[in-house]
Formats: sequence, C-alpha cells, structure tokens
Amino acid sequence: MSTAANKPATIHLSDYQPPAFLISDVQLTVELGEENTLITSLLEFKRNAVDARQVRLHGENLALKNLSVNGIPVPPTEYTLSTTELCFLAPDDDFTVQIVTEIKPQENTALEGLYKSSGNFCTQCEAEGFRKITYFLDRPDVMATFTTTIIGDPDKYPFMLSNGNLDGQGLLHDGRQFYRWVDPHPKPAYLFALVAGDLACVEDEFVTMSDRRIKLQIFVEKGNENKCAHAMTSLKKSMKWDEEKYGREYDLDIFMIVAVGDFNMGAMENKGLNVFNSKYVLASTETATDADYDGIESVIAHEYFHNWTGNRITCRDWFQLTLKEGLTVFRDQQFSADMNSAAVKRIEDVQRLRAAQYPEDAGPLAHPIQPQSYVEINNFYTATVYEKGAEVIRMIHTMVGEDRFRKGMDLYFDRHDGQAVTTEEFVKAIEDGADIDLTQFRRWYLQAGTPEISVSDMYDGDSKTYHLTITQKNGKAEDLSDPLHIPVRMGLLGQNGADLLETETGDGSVLLDLTEKTQKFTFENIAEKPVPSLFRGFSAPIKLSKNPSDDAIDLLFKKDSDLFNRWEAGQRLATKILVDLTDTFGTDKSANNLPEYYLEAFAELMNDHDLDPAFRAAAMTLPGESYIGQQMQVVDVDAIHHSRKSSAKAIGLRFEKELQEIYDRNLGQKDYGRRKLKNTALSYLAATGKEDYISLSANQYKTATTMTDRVAALAKLVETDHSAREEALEDFYSRWEKDQLVIDKWFTLQAVSSRDKAMKDVERLLSHSAFTLLNPNRVRSLVGAFAAGNAVHFHAKSGKGYQFLSDQILALNKTNPQIAARLVSPLGQWRRYDADRQQLMKTELSRILEEENLSNHVYEMASKSLDN
Ligand code: BES
Ligand code: ZN
Repeated sequence: MSTAANKPATIHLSDYQPPAFLISDVQLTVELGEENTLITSLLEFKRNAVDARQVRLHGENLALKNLSVNGIPVPPTEYTLSTTELCFLAPDDDFTVQIVTEIKPQENTALEGLYKSSGNFCTQCEAEGFRKITYFLDRPDVMATFTTTIIGDPDKYPFMLSNGNLDGQGLLHDGRQFYRWVDPHPKPAYLFALVAGDLACVEDEFVTMSDRRIKLQIFVEKGNENKCAHAMTSLKKSMKWDEEKYGREYDLDIFMIVAVGDFNMGAMENKGLNVFNSKYVLASTETATDADYDGIESVIAHEYFHNWTGNRITCRDWFQLTLKEGLTVFRDQQFSADMNSAAVKRIEDVQRLRAAQYPEDAGPLAHPIQPQSYVEINNFYTATVYEKGAEVIRMIHTMVGEDRFRKGMDLYFDRHDGQAVTTEEFVKAIEDGADIDLTQFRRWYLQAGTPEISVSDMYDGDSKTYHLTITQKNGKAEDLSDPLHIPVRMGLLGQNGADLLETETGDGSVLLDLTEKTQKFTFENIAEKPVPSLFRGFSAPIKLSKNPSDDAIDLLFKKDSDLFNRWEAGQRLATKILVDLTDTFGTDKSANNLPEYYLEAFAELMNDHDLDPAFRAAAMTLPGESYIGQQMQVVDVDAIHHSRKSSAKAIGLRFEKELQEIYDRNLGQKDYGRRKLKNTALSYLAATGKEDYISLSANQYKTATTMTDRVAALAKLVETDHSAREEALEDFYSRWEKDQLVIDKWFTLQAVSSRDKAMKDVERLLSHSAFTLLNPNRVRSLVGAFAAGNAVHFHAKSGKGYQFLSDQILALNKTNPQIAARLVSPLGQWRRYDADRQQLMKTELSRILEEENLSNHVYEMASKSLDN
C-alpha cells in the first residue's frame, strides 16, 4: 500500500537479472483449517549465480512459523523478515529449506493466493499470488516439480485437488483426510493450484492421438451438474483441435476444471487443474445466451491451449506476458473461427480490439505489447498485451501462411519445451522455422500506438496500370517512431464488384509488404479503374483514414468477396453518416432521413438470403456509440446517442415490413445465426417506438424458451418507461433469484439503460440486497457495465456518474485492489471529452489519489491516467 507521497517502485525490464538461486523441487503440505491454514514446504535449492550468498524469498501477509535449512532450524537472529521478503544465507551450492507458514484464507477478499469461495478453498496464483501462500522464489523463470499433499476435514472437503496426477489418498489417524498429487512437469509457482470442497463432479474421457486415455473432470457446486455439457464438449473439441492443428498432445493422465463463483478474472490455466469463473463453465439454454455459449467455448479452449503455449513453454519474466497471452488468444481465435462462422468471429475480434485496445493505445496508459516497465503487473493484463498481441501473431501468420507458420511453431516447441523464454526467442524460432526475416517486424513488440494509414491511388487507362501509394504514421501525437512492417492484404474490384486480380490463392487477394513510411505499389494489366479493397480480413491492427475505396464504399458493402471488408464497408458508411448526424443534434433539422444509397445497400444485404444469417445480423447492426465517439475530435455522448437512436428509428420505419418478415420467419428457430438476425430485426422494430413493438418485446419475453431471446426482449423493455418494463424485470428477478450468473444479467441490463432514470436506478441497485462488492462478477455487472456501457449517464454533465465510479473504486480498494484498478480506465479517457467533463473526471482521479491507503494497483492506474 502506498500514498502519492510514498510512491511504489517501478520495475524495469532493463533490470532483469537471472535468479540467484533455483528451486528444482517442491514438497508442499497444506493443512486446511477454519481458523488457520498451515503450509509446510520443503524446497530443493541450487545456486545459479556463482557469487550469490543471500537467499531472498518473496512472501506477503504470511505468519512464519518455522524456517530450517538442511534440517536445522534457523534462529530469528539469522534471518530477516520484511513485509515482502524473507532473507537468509545459503549454506552451500545445494541445500534444502523447510518453511512453515500460517494464513487465513477465509479473510482473503482480494481473491489472490488461497481464498474461499462459497465455502470451498481455491487458489489464484498468477501473477504473484503464490507468495501469499508461502515464501518462495515467485518468478516465472524458477521452475520446479511439485508434490502437493492436502489435508483436511473429509466431511467439509471431500474433494481435494491440485496439479498433476493423483498419487494417493486416504485417512489419517486423527480422522482427517489427505490427497497427494504429483506434477512431474517443472512449472513456475504461478501455475500452482489447489481446490478443496464439497463439489459435484462431471466426468468424461478423451483418447489422445497416441491412444492415451485422459480422465476429464469438471467440478461445480452441487446442483449445477446439468450445466456442464457445453464446457465438456468444448474441452474435447479443444484437445482434438490442438492435436490436429498444432500436433500438441495432452501430457498428464487427468485434466480438471473447477468452476468458482468468486474469481477476479475469466479463468486460469493452472497445470492440469484449470480454475474458472463459473460464468465460463455453466450453461443451459434457459440460463445462458448464445454469446455466453461462445464465451465458454473460447475460454475453455484458451486455458487448455495454454498447456503448451504458457505452461510447457512459459515466460521468462512478466514483461514477456504477450508471449503466452497474445499467442494463446490467437490460437483460441483460430479455434473459434474453425468451430463457427470464421467471418463473424473475425468481426467480433476486431470489434473487441477497437472497443478496448484502440482507446488504451491512444490514451495515457498506452504501452507496447511488451511493456518496458510497470508498478503492478496485474495492471498489465491489458487489451494491448492480449488482443493486440494476438494481432501481431496473426500478422506473422498472414505473412508466412498456414504451413510455414506451423513449421515455425514446431520449431518453437522443439527448441524451448520446458523453458521460460522471451518474446525474442519466440520470434527467432518462427523466423528460423518459417524462413522469414522479421528484423523490422519486431518493432511491433516495442512501439505503442495504433498506426494510421492513408492511401491515394491513380489509374492510367492507357497503360492499364494502377498505382497505390500507402503512407503510415504512428497514431501517437509526436511521430518519432520507425516505420513498421505492415502486411496489407488487398484486392481490386471492378465496377461490377467482381475481383480483378487473379491470384494463386484464388481469393482475388494479394499481400503487400508495407515497410516504409510511404511506399508505392503498381499493378499491371488492370482493365478498368478499380475500387481497392484494403486490409482484407483486417490484416493489420491499424486505422485507415479516408482512402480511395471510400468513394465507392457502397459497392464494397454490397459486393466485396471478402466478408470482413464487406462488413467493414457497411460500418464505415454508417459511421460517416452517424458522425455527420451528430451535427444536427439540438437543432431542429430532421435526423430521420438517412441517405438513400445507404438504405439501398442495407436493403440489399438484409434481403440476401444466400448470406450467413449471423453475418447479415452483424452487417445490419450500426456501429456502437463508443466506436462512433472514437471518430470524433471531442466525444459528444448525447449527440452520438441521439444520432444512433434516430437512425435506428429511421431504419425501423423504412423497413418495417421487411423487418417484421425477418422476425416472423426466424422466430422459434434453433440456429444461432437466425436467432441473432431475428433479434436484430426486433431491435429496429422497437426503435420505432411504436406500442406494437413494445408488446412484441413483452410477448417475446414471456414466451421465450432461451435466455438469448429472453434477454434480447428484456433489453428492449428496459429502454422504455412502459409498465411492461417493471413487470418483466420483477418476473426475471423472481424467476432466477437463485442463479447468480443470471442475476448478473439483470443488474447489467439496468446499468446500461439509456432511459432518464438510469443513474437513479444504478444507485438504488447498489443497495439492493443481492448486490455485493465482494463478488467480482457482481461488481462488473453493475459498476463495470455502467462505466463502460452507459456513455450517456456515466458522462452526465452533473458529474454524478464519475463520482459514483470513484466512490466504488475507493470502496473496492480496501477489499479487492485488482478489481478496483480495473475500473479506473474510463476516467483515464478524460482528454477525449469537453472541458467541463475533463475537469470533473480529473477531480475524481485526484480524489482517488488523495486516499490514504491506496493500493499500488489503483495508484498506478490513477496517477498515470492523470499525468501522462
Ligand atoms: N492467465 C490468464 C488468467 C490471469 C489473468 C491470471 C490475469 C492472472 C492475472 C488466463 O489465461 C486468461 O488469459 N484469461 C482471460 C480469458 C481469456 C479467454 C482471454 C481472462 O481471465 O480474462
Ligand atoms: Zn491466457
């Protein structure tokens, strides 16, 4: 904990030193108790730096009960203890250390280290939580084999789980039970896990490519056994996919997943024992939406894929985080694209990148995917490290193609299995294995900011040549950066919309290597003046400013053979219209007229039955408010909201008949895409404000057989002040009162409503009996959803929204600093707003910084948000 006057230390990548000592083996005994939990660890040490004398172990909030070296107790005069370290002298090159610590997991509200959730013990050790369990070299380049013995009351904790394979279990003389687990794969402490509780277990099996039978177990709270099927299927698909796509086989006899209700993150890849936020395990059609199903599939895959990209090969230090996270996000994206509609998946990935990463990269907390410094590592599990990190891997994949990428990955696994490595070692392995020069490409790891691309063109009809000039500029204010190596996948469309380029791949696309600040590309034998389709499939995480394809953007919207770019064209077109419309806000100019060329293209798409319905739904959806805001000099939340709302209304009125038809035709369909299309139609119909469609929503709410349909309908009702609103909200609450994950949705729907009373609603919900700051999902469902998803009310001119958020941050700072810190970023966007709002937001950031016992987590986020 720190105050502004007592600044916490900054850790720099340039200060990295290999560990002075290594630990090769850990024998851990954990005696679980209601008052105290006792941890005894026996560590095999090895000197790693010739001149090292002092052993310095990490430890926080621990009561040290005993320290012995080579079996001899060390008296307190011969060790030193601080709030973060235990230091003593090494007797030799090799020695053993026994440490006994005592902790109180039941009082742990930060949910890091060993804690309790619904009466069960569980752990979260990444990044630096193991040091809250016992003293250790808690850094990822210290890898050890672990044997874990868990001891406790068999009635309270019939299941006792840890990493590796089960090596024994039984009863002790005193009536307590023990389970012993052996993990033969050396791992850093952050991958350690322990779970104990009275759980239900769902079991299955997977036969690997070399015919090994793996036991699969999902542990959930009793009563939830019937909500594990989708998670289990997703796990088996992931295991199969990693074998087929990357040749990676699972390496223990058992793979366990535990779902817990209190979890700071989404899920955690502990070796052989993944711990999940129950949100990413539990699903039934009545309680989970289609989006929830997708989330489960991708998070299960993500954590499973870490077994190779993260666990077998891990990070040397936390600056290398994108080594495992960027790569594993890329892998889970590939997996989901293979399992579902690839184009729709790509659209969703890009939407997420733009919504979360672009603002981060343009704001005070911008950092390269490999940061150079941090105060609190937990603040660096960011959209940049994850999503932009995945885009960087994807660009390499795009440049070398599927087969060579696989060769690069094979070499990476061969060369570094069992090691803790750097991103540089990854890039080198890909370079060697895939046979590509990535010298310039490496800059992506070191430069922050979203590159801005501008393009001009020239067609010479006489020589039938087409010239394209592409310029790149780093998006950060002063552009002192070196040019990046940017892969530009593109095609040329004729006036009828057909691809003009004949290419090897047959998809009408070529790949250009943009390596200079400004570069000219020439195309020969182009029969007519083409329309360029640039960055197909979003081949690089850049911002494309106005460019020649904008002049025929409706052609791209109607005809581009690249579905991503077809969607993108529709978004660009709509964004331009919506931004222009913000000018009419507050004037008496009618905003209900959308340009005819847009409506025409919209109609064409809406009625194109050859297209995947999920794609059609995505392409019919207007860009979100925050994306529109990103295109404005000063974000005007009210004007944006008005312009989007009135445009939706205009579309609803214009196409009322067609939308009703779509609604009727897709009602009651099992297909995910058709459900999405139907609910998109419902949105537009509801936007007309007609009473008929309030009834339609109310009726859909009442008769829904899936949570997708129920939530879609309720979301429409929650936007109104109609009596049907309260009726449905009450019904929803009483129907699902016992299901925490569903009640989270109930909070969120109200938190993001744009109706006038929303701020009051949110304040009232804060004192609702079901609200608690101690459960991260609940905090996200109300506070997080409000700050990130309710622009109009969060940015209310009164400043009440800002105050509300900082009040919650300060309260959470005391119990769960990680969650508190993650809520700061909306305030950090102050530069994007008008002067009054800027002042109000800065006032709240200063108020946060004045708090006496500010955690390092919140301190870093708030101080950087204010100063940088
Ligand atoms: N290793 C992380 C979990 C984690 C994050 C632990 C931060 C400690 C601090 C895990 O693999 C992960 O990335 N989880 C994501 C979900 C994933 C699908 C991107 C998460 O929890 O949000
Ligand atoms: Zn991860």
